[in-house]
Amino acid sequence: MALVNENYCNLKESYLFADIAKKVSAYAKEHPEKKIIRLGIGDVTRPLAACVVKAMEKAVAEMGVQDTFRGYGPEQGYGFLHDAIVKYYASFGVALESNEIFISDGAKSDCGNITDIFSNANTILIPDPVYPVYLDTNVMCGRKIIYMEGKPENNFLPMPDENVHADVIYLCSPNNPTGAVYTKEQLEKWVAYALKNDAVILYDAAYEAFVVDPAIPRSIFTVEGAKKCAIELCSLSKTAGFTGTRCGYTVVPQALVRKTAAGQEMSLNKMWLRRQTTKFNGVPYIIQRGAEAVFSEEGIAQCRANIAYYQENARIMMAGFDKLGIKYFGGVHSPYIWLQCPQGMTSWEFFDYLLENMAVVGTPGAGFGTMGEGYFRLTAFGSRENTIEAMDRIVAGLKNL
Ligand code: MLT
Repeated sequence: MALVNENYCNLKESYLFADIAKKVSAYAKEHPEKKIIRLGIGDVTRPLAACVVKAMEKAVAEMGVQDTFRGYGPEQGYGFLHDAIVKYYASFGVALESNEIFISDGAKSDCGNITDIFSNANTILIPDPVYPVYLDTNVMCGRKIIYMEGKPENNFLPMPDENVHADVIYLCSPNNPTGAVYTKEQLEKWVAYALKNDAVILYDAAYEAFVVDPAIPRSIFTVEGAKKCAIELCSLSKTAGFTGTRCGYTVVPQALVRKTAAGQEMSLNKMWLRRQTTKFNGVPYIIQRGAEAVFSEEGIAQCRANIAYYQENARIMMAGFDKLGIKYFGGVHSPYIWLQCPQGMTSWEFFDYLLENMAVVGTPGAGFGTMGEGYFRLTAFGSRENTIEAMDRIVAGLKNL
């Protein structure tokens, strides 16, 4: 008899954003006359940069010609894309070797798949609130999970507790969902904790392109010692509008070594290479050529223009909440506004209230963990027109609440 993975019994019935999509489509069916504005899932709306499209068109043409056609590529990505990423990291002071970079179809996949190279005996430390993938993928493996609380008192930036032992630590900065960012000094404390405990930090840098203050780290590897204790997950989804195009990368330093329970030293870079070459056949050549263009001078400028567009949306949203006197976090180094639900509403009460009265969709903070209760996330990734309209509706709808 085939037994199933019983850890799945410990998961919530559906993935947060699937849950929300279901509720919204039920509402849309009941109210076909309403124009629903979706500021829930962090999905981009600006088209791909022109130079990215051009690079992919060229790659498509190459695939149709005998001499330039390509079949299977290297599972860990093409050298031309590694070189482009090495140069990108150098621009903010991080030196990487190309064999430390693994190209993937996005940070979400890698975030789930990286669990393969860690023992199920590990204790996993997860911030709360948090991107639900960290939690769900570890629940699927049946691991022991402990939480660290993000709250207004610590600006939603939990710091290490010397009395708590963790083996694998998830950090996300700029943070999804709160938009909070760690300073270099704070990351230094995390690196010191990880080195002391022989732990590994899984650092999600998917939103690094939104950092506007050069003093705020865009990579954990700007911190000395991080290459001995961290893996960085990054994505072109938010940096370059690749949510539908799918491309990301994970940096696993050569210096990162940990032991088996029996004491055998293992290189995590080698383990991840082994895992990827066995279970993954790489990102399509056409997409990788598009990704390469993202890191060209022209690509960086064009993608930055899209990010500036979203940042302006965030400013419009923050101005609306300022008018209402509603407290919020994020929005500056992040496309997310994390606001306190008005009138002591719970997150899901506010979700329903916004949907039913203003036809605006957001994400209930409670979906990101118990500490998210009473909070609500809105994304600045909408179109300008929709962002303005949503905020007009919200300001009008909440001002006399
Ligand atoms: C979010 O809305 O939290 C993100 O778009 C989800 C993701 O990046 O997978």
